[in-house]
Amino acid sequence: MTAFKPLVFSGVQPTGNLHLGNYLGAIKKFVALQDTSDCIYCVVDLHSLTAQLVHEDLKDQTRAITAAFLASGIDPRKHIVFNQSRVMQHAELAWIFNCVARIGWMNRMTQFKDKAGKDRENASLGLLAYPSLMAADILVYRATHVPVGDDQKQHLELTRDIAQKFNNDFSDRIAGLGVGVEMKVGEETVNGFFPLTEPIIGGPAARIMSLRDGSKKMSKSDPSDLSRINLTDDADSISKKIRKAKTDPEALPGELDGLAGRPEAENLVGIYAGLAEISKEAVLKEFGGQQFSVFKPALADLAVEKLAPVAGEMRRISGDRAYVDAVLSDGGERAGLLAEATMKTVRDIIGLLQG
Ligand code: AMP
Ligand code: TRP
Repeated sequence: MTAFKPLVFSGVQPTGNLHLGNYLGAIKKFVALQDTSDCIYCVVDLHSLTAQLVHEDLKDQTRAITAAFLASGIDPRKHIVFNQSRVMQHAELAWIFNCVARIGWMNRMTQFKDKAGKDRENASLGLLAYPSLMAADILVYRATHVPVGDDQKQHLELTRDIAQKFNNDFSDRIAGLGVGVEMKVGEETVNGFFPLTEPIIGGPAARIMSLRDGSKKMSKSDPSDLSRINLTDDADSISKKIRKAKTDPEALPGELDGLAGRPEAENLVGIYAGLAEISKEAVLKEFGGQQFSVFKPALADLAVEKLAPVAGEMRRISGDRAYVDAVLSDGGERAGLLAEATMKTVRDIIGLLQG
C-alpha cells in the first residue's frame, strides 16, 4: 500500500504582533518539526483580509511574521517559507472547496460565530468561507500534518471533512485516473486523492491564556497589552507583565490535581513548562509549596532568557528587508511548483478543460 508522503504545513496570519501564545502554541513546534519532516510555513495574508480588508501596512506585517519565523530558527533553504497570496492555487482550490463544503459546516465553526458576533448576516462571505481557504492551504500540498494551537482543532476537523467528501464525491474519477492513494477511513480502505490531515496539537502550551483573565485565551485582539507578552517586548515589559499577571493567594500545589479551578495559576505553570520544554508536573515538582512571590520572578527570568534572543534576531532580520523579501519570493516559487502539480490533477479529476 502506498502512503502519503509525510509533509508538514502551517500558517500564521499577518495581523498584529505575535505573542507568547503563538510562539509556544505554534512557532516553537514549527521549528522542532524541521528536523524530522519536510515543512511548509506560510504567512496567510489572504486570510487576514477577513479581519480587516483595508490595511495600511499589510506588506510590513507579512514581513514581520516572516522575520519571526526566521528569528525562531526556521530554515528557509531546507524548508519553504512564503506568503499565501503569491501562490494563486490556494485561492483556486478554495473555490473548489467552497463547492464541496456545505454552508451548515461553516455556520457551525465557533471561530466564525465568535468573530461574526450578533450580526451574522452582515459578516463577510470571506469570514464564513475562511475554513475552506485554510483547507486549501493544507491540501494543495496534500500535507499530512499541521502543527497549531488548540483553537484551530475544529478547523482541522473540517479540513478532514472536506478531503473526505472530495475523495468520496470523485472516487470513480480518482480511481479511473489512477491518482488515488490507498488509506484507511474507519474500517474501510478507500482510494483518496487528499490525505486526512492530522493536527499536531498538545503539550503544556497548546492553549495559553490571557495574563489578566485565565478564562480567555491570549490574543492579539485583546485591548489590554498587559494581557499578553509580545515577541517584541523588551526585558522590562516582560518582567512587568508577569509581575502584574493575575493570580490567587495560594501557594503552588505539588501535583497537577491541585491546579483544578485555578486557571491563572495553571496558565503560568503551562507557560513555564512551554518555555523550559518540560512538563507541568516537572514544574510543580520544582515549585510546589512556593508562593507566587518566588515563582513569578523565576518565570520572568526564564521568559526573558528565552524570548530576548528571538526579539533581537527579529529586529536584526527585519532590518534586512531585501533578505526577507528574497526568502518569500524564493519560497513562493518553490511552493507554486508543488501547488500547480496538485492542481493539474485536481482539474483533471473535476473535468475542467485545461492544457
Ligand atoms: P493566528 O495568530 O491566529 O494566525 O495564530 C497562529 C497560531 O498560533 C495558530 O496555530 C494558533 O492556534 C496559535 N495560537 C494563537 N493563540 C494561541 C494561544 N493563546 N495559545 C496557544 N496557541 C495559540
Ligand atoms: N486559521 C489559522 C489561525 O488563525 C491560520 C491558518 C490559515 C492556518 N491557514 C492555515 C493554520 C493552514 C494551519 C494550516 O491561526
